[in-house]
Amino acid sequence: MSMETMINEAMNVIKPELKEQPKIGLILGSGLGVLADELAEAVTISYQKVPYFPESTVKGHAGQFVFGRLEGVPVVAMQGRYHFYEGYDLKQVTFPVRVMKALGVKQLIVTNAAGGVNTSFKPGDLMIINDHINMLGTNPLIGPNETNLGVRFPDMSEVYNKDLIEMAKSVAGEHQIDIKEGIYYATSGPSYETPAEVRMIRTLGGDAVGMSTVPEVIVARHSGLEVLGISCITNAASGILDQPLSHEEVIETTEKVKATFVQLVKAIVQKMGE
Ligand code: HPA
Repeated sequence: MSMETMINEAMNVIKPELKEQPKIGLILGSGLGVLADELAEAVTISYQKVPYFPESTVKGHAGQFVFGRLEGVPVVAMQGRYHFYEGYDLKQVTFPVRVMKALGVKQLIVTNAAGGVNTSFKPGDLMIINDHINMLGTNPLIGPNETNLGVRFPDMSEVYNKDLIEMAKSVAGEHQIDIKEGIYYATSGPSYETPAEVRMIRTLGGDAVGMSTVPEVIVARHSGLEVLGISCITNAASGILDQPLSHEEVIETTEKVKATFVQLVKAIVQKMGE
């Protein structure tokens, strides 16, 4: 079966439920799903109801689309995402991006929790992603290319839209939100890095490390979506401090930062809607 057929089947289930077409897609990372609770006139669609969507498994990931308005702008938020480490292949991980594109989304805001590799970062910092390093060892576009969905060899020279980055930085400034900027380094997980791996990541230019985002962003660019990425730095990466890492620590930090995160993303969406 072609990907296009699968996308259409998924779309046919979702579209009748919607009051309007979403313009912006939001992928909400671990502990950041609260943003979806801010949507006005919300319509929720569980991933379980959508054809070809697998079930999500990780704590802090609800697993549903929330459609509605944020600052008056029609958006769709993914409350929960699929990860490579859960055992899904990257076509499954990125299928929701294809569906959002088919539903009319033009711009995608991708968020995640990440470890701070750059030693000037503190837990609770927000980082605008200005580039990434894909160390998953694979790519969601491997396999036959459907040219109606995108080109065989998509350009990756400006994955994270420069205008959106500048806008996000100025919006953060207007709200007195301290914002960092840097390169997101993607690993498969689920084990956290070793201290030696973190030193390597730093040497290679990574500022933050995480287990998501890059597959979705590659597919978003393949589909022609404009992308803005925001990492919530939830912890100092392995080996920086003399203490072990845990998912609990990650969720605790997102709890602390979520009000600022929600404020920032709302203000960005408002600007995008102008
Ligand atoms: N490493 C990888 N992924 C993460 C981390 C980390 O330190 N923190 C949150 N997600």
